[in-house]
Amino acid sequence: CGSRTRTVFGEGSSRPRLVVVGEAPGAEEDRTGRPFVGRAGELLTRMLQAIGLGREDVFICNVLKCRPPGNRSPRPDEVAGCRPFLQEQLEVLDPPLLLAVGSHAVRLLLHTERGITSLRGRFQTSPDGWRVMPTYHPAYLLRNPAAKREAWEDLQKVATELELAIPPRR
Ligand code: URA
Repeated sequence: CGSRTRTVFGEGSSRPRLVVVGEAPGAEEDRTGRPFVGRAGELLTRMLQAIGLGREDVFICNVLKCRPPGNRSPRPDEVAGCRPFLQEQLEVLDPPLLLAVGSHAVRLLLHTERGITSLRGRFQTSPDGWRVMPTYHPAYLLRNPAAKREAWEDLQKVATELELAIPPRR
């Protein structure tokens, strides 16, 4: 946390239908103190809207609560240091479903080293008892738009699970 501007704790509903767990704050999140407000965040917001969820319906947070210097990947000691905060958040929020976006969230929540490609798109039960849908991180989707089709399939499964009516596309 030595180089952060703000702690990015997370935000959203206190009784969420879904908790989104990302990787770590980026530059814009560090500046504003809010999760997923940069380019990846805009895409995440649109992905949620596509299945009829507003940001206020869910809770959005990250594995790390502070931006790693220079946006590098979270280190194992940093993940271990922040882990109790995420655990406590999940216990308090007690959501029916988690959307783990990207490999860091998937690894931490599912206690696995398996890659996102083999895990995404299927509901998993974490060792802590959470129901988890692993999917691609929106930053990855920005770099690899061809993967959006698979992410959309994953989101449709979330919509079915939560009995959400998918709004017509505009
Ligand atoms: N913004 C976040 O808050 N988390 C990420 O994982 C990426 C961007």
